[in-house]
Amino acid sequence: MSNESNLLVERDGAVAILTFNNPKALNALTAATFEALEATLEELATDQSVRAVVLTGAGNKAFIAGGDISVLATLNVESARQFALLAQQVIDKIEAFPKPVVAAINGYALGGGCELAMACDLRIAADTARFGQPEVKLGIIPGFAGTQRLARLVGKARAKEMIFTGEMIDAATADRIGLVNRVVPAENLMKETLALVATMTDKSMSAITLCKEAIDHGLEMDFARGARYEADLFGLSFATPDAQEGLAAFLEKRLPKFK
Ligand code: CAA
Repeated sequence: MSNESNLLVERDGAVAILTFNNPKALNALTAATFEALEATLEELATDQSVRAVVLTGAGNKAFIAGGDISVLATLNVESARQFALLAQQVIDKIEAFPKPVVAAINGYALGGGCELAMACDLRIAADTARFGQPEVKLGIIPGFAGTQRLARLVGKARAKEMIFTGEMIDAATADRIGLVNRVVPAENLMKETLALVATMTDKSMSAITLCKEAIDHGLEMDFARGARYEADLFGLSFATPDAQEGLAAFLEKRLPKFK
C-alpha cells in the first residue's frame, strides 16, 4: 500500500513496516505525511493481527532529514505553531500506540526526524546513522517536542549541547549517550530489528501494553505515584486472559499460547 503522502505500509507477519518514502528530499516530513501516519496508526492500533510497528526511511541515506524546509520557509507565526501542533499530536500517537513501535534508523535522523524517532519505544541505528537537532542553523528551534524528549532521554546537558550547537553525532555516540538502544551494521538493520521485535511479539501483548503505559505515564509522575500506578496496572493485568494462560502454562511446564 502507498499513498501520495510518501508513506509506504507493508507487512512482515505480525509486524507492520512503515517507510517514509521521499528519498529525493531525504524523506523530509510534510503535513500530508503526518496526516497519513496518523490515519495508519489509528488503523493498526485496532488491527489484532498487528503486534508491532517498525518505522524506517526509504533509501540508504536518510531515516528522515527533518521537517520539509521548503514548507517551513513558507510559514508564519501562526502556521508554524499549527504545523508543530499537528506534528506533536501525531508523534504523541506513536508514543501512545498500544503495541511496541521500533525505529530502524537507516541514515540521517535530523530535526523532526530525530524528534519522531525519540517517540518510538526503541531505536535501532545503522552504523551509518547520524543524529542531530540542527534547527539553530536555520534560525528556528525544534518544534516537534525535541527540547522535551531529548532532555528526558539523554539528560539536560547533552540535550543542550546537541540543540545549541546543531552539530550531528554519529551512531556510536548516540549509543553511548542513550539516544539509541543499539547500533548494527547498516546491511543488517532490518533483519536485526525484526529479530529483536520477534522477541516481543511472541509475548503477551496485553501485558506489554500495560508495561508501556506504566513506564511512559509513570515517568511523568513522582516515584511514589508512579509505583502506585504500576500496582494498579499490575492488578489490572490479572483480569486478562493472557495472565491466566501465562501463569497456568508456567505451572503446567508448557509454553504459553497468548491470544
Ligand atoms: N527538507 C527539505 N529538503 C531536504 C531536507 C529537508 N529537511 N533535507 C534534505 N533535503 C533535500 C535537499 O534540499 C536536496 O534536494 P535537491 O537534490 O533538490 O537539492 C536533497 O534533499 C538531498 O540533500 P543534500 O543534497 O543536501 O544531501 P547532502 O548529502 O549534501 O546533505 C544533509 C545531507 C546534511 C542531511 C543535508 O541535506 C541537510 O543538512 N539537510 C537539512 C537537515 C535539517 O536542517 N533538518 C532540520 C529541518 S528543521 C526541522 O526539522 C524543524 C522541526 O523540528 C520541525
